[in-house]
Amino acid sequence: MSATKTIKMPIIAPSILSADFLNLGRDIEMVNKSEADWFHLDVMDGRFVPNISYGMSIIAQMKKLATKTFDVHLMIVEPEKYFEEFKKAGADILTIHYEASTHLHRSLQAIKSLGMKAGVSLNPHTPVHLLENIITDIDLVLIMSVNPGFGGQKFIPQSLDKVRALRQMITAAGANTIIEIDGGVTLENAPEIVAAGTDALVAGNTVFTAPDPLEMIKKLKRVGK
Ligand code: DX5
Ligand code: ZN
Repeated sequence: MSATKTIKMPIIAPSILSADFLNLGRDIEMVNKSEADWFHLDVMDGRFVPNISYGMSIIAQMKKLATKTFDVHLMIVEPEKYFEEFKKAGADILTIHYEASTHLHRSLQAIKSLGMKAGVSLNPHTPVHLLENIITDIDLVLIMSVNPGFGGQKFIPQSLDKVRALRQMITAAGANTIIEIDGGVTLENAPEIVAAGTDALVAGNTVFTAPDPLEMIKKLKRVGK
């Protein structure tokens, strides 16, 4: 994906799940003027994960105000039913779960044919080697470093081994796949996450509960420098 060549690493993707929904416009403007690169948007259906968040109508409203890439993370069963609707709502990157996709190859082609980048997310128990035969078709792999469903959870340390293994796989295949990590990212653990080979950091709680979110994003952006 060319985004990695033009954007300074690491890519920072604040997760709107932790934003203040009574002041959503204000929080979107904050991300707009920050050093963040993407908006990370978590869609939950109460079936794939034990929580329900928001869907395409909220995303379409946000798109009117937001000025950065929409990185949409679908934590839903049968995601293929909704690709077109998420495209219409403004998704630039559409990530589906490996565990929710019976025909992953077909789904990735469908996402790309609609003009979006295609991502695959792995739950903490799903090994990265399962992507070996499809890695060159994937624009982004989202490693879940918590069990999906909620913000503010603790980072699972084994996720770092998954990032390292995935980095090796991507290099060996000569692929351009972006590695994104999602869940429990803090200013303290971000340096080793980036050192392991991660390109993009999702951060919800860490950004939106910070006394100064703009400053927090700035600090995350400088990790590894
Ligand atoms: C969890 C979501 C995450 C979540 C991350 O299921 O996929 O994107 O918002 O939140 P933090 O950064 O607070 O762990
Ligand atoms: Zn997410």
